[in-house]
Amino acid sequence: MSELELHTWATWAELAFALFTVISVFVISAPYGRHMRAGWGTEIGARAGWVLMESPTVLAFLLFYLLGEHRFEAAPLLLLGVWQFHYLRRTFVYPFLLRGQEGKTMPLVIALSGVGFNTLNAYINARWVSHLGDYSDWLTRPWLYLGGLVFLLGWGINVWADRALRRLRAPGERGYTIPRGGLYELISCPNYLGEILEWIGWAIATLSLPGLAFAIYTVANLGPRALSNHRWYRDKFPDYPERRKALIPFVL
Ligand SMILES: NC(=O)c1ccc[n+]([C@@H]2O[C@H](COP(=O)([O-])OP(=O)(O)OC[C@H]3O[C@@H](n4cnc5c(N)ncnc54)[C@H](OP(=O)(O)O)[C@@H]3O)[C@@H](O)[C@H]2O)c1
Repeated sequence: MSELELHTWATWAELAFALFTVISVFVISAPYGRHMRAGWGTEIGARAGWVLMESPTVLAFLLFYLLGEHRFEAAPLLLLGVWQFHYLRRTFVYPFLLRGQEGKTMPLVIALSGVGFNTLNAYINARWVSHLGDYSDWLTRPWLYLGGLVFLLGWGINVWADRALRRLRAPGERGYTIPRGGLYELISCPNYLGEILEWIGWAIATLSLPGLAFAIYTVANLGPRALSNHRWYRDKFPDYPERRKALIPFVL
C-alpha cells in the first residue's frame, strides 16, 4: 500500500470516528468538567489530563511535518505556524490558567482516547501540509488568506470566551455561575463556536480532505456537548436567560 493510500484510509477513519463521536456524545456526555462522574475507571488530575491529551497536537504534528519534503516551503511553514499558534497555547498554557481544578480529575480512558485521536489528526493534517499536498503556489491563492481570517476570528472568540469563564471564579473557587456579557448573551458556549470556526478556517486555508475531516469532527464533538451544557445550565439555574441559545446565535 502506498503512503497516499494509507493516508486516505486514515482520513476516512477520522471521518468515521466523527460519526461514532456524534452518536455517542448525544447518548452520553463525555465525562470531564461539569459532566464528570464516577464509573469510568482510573482517573488522573484534570490539568495533567489536558496536557497529556493535547501533547500530540504539538509534538506529533511537528514530527510528521518535519518528515515532509515540502517542510521548508513558505505556505506549509505558514500553516505550521497557524496550527502551533493554537495548540502550543491549548496544550502548555491553557491547562495552567484554569481555575478551580484543584482535586478535579478526568478518566484516564478519556485522556488516552484524546491522545489516540490527536495523533491520528496530527498525522493526516501535518503529512498532507508538508508532504502529500501541493502548496507550492498557495501564497498567490485566496484560500490561505480567507481561511486565515476565519481561523483568527474563531481564535479571538474562543480565547475571549474561555477567559470570560475563568473570570467567573476567584482563585480557589470551584462552583459554577451564569456567564454574562458579549456573545454569552446570545449563546451558552461561545468558546465551542470559536473553536469550530477556527477549524473551518483551517479547512478553507488548506482546502483539503484532512482539514475538512477535522472541522467535521470538531462539529461532531462540540455540537452535542454545547447542547448538553445548555441543558445543564437550564436545569441548574431556574433564572437562566430564556432567549439564550446553545451554540449558534438565534438558531440552535
Ligand atoms: N477541538 C475539539 O474537539 C475540542 C474538544 C474539547 C474541548 N475543546 C476546547 O477546549 C476548551 C475547554 O473545553 P471544555 O469542554 O472544558 O469547556 P467548558 O466546559 O466551557 O469549561 C472551560 C473551563 O471553564 C470552567 N467553567 C465552565 N463553565 C463555567 C461556569 N458557568 N462557571 C464557572 N466556571 C465555568 C470549567 O470548569 P470545570 O472544568 O470545573 O467544569 C473549565 O475550567 C474550549 O476552548 C474548547 O473549545 C476543543
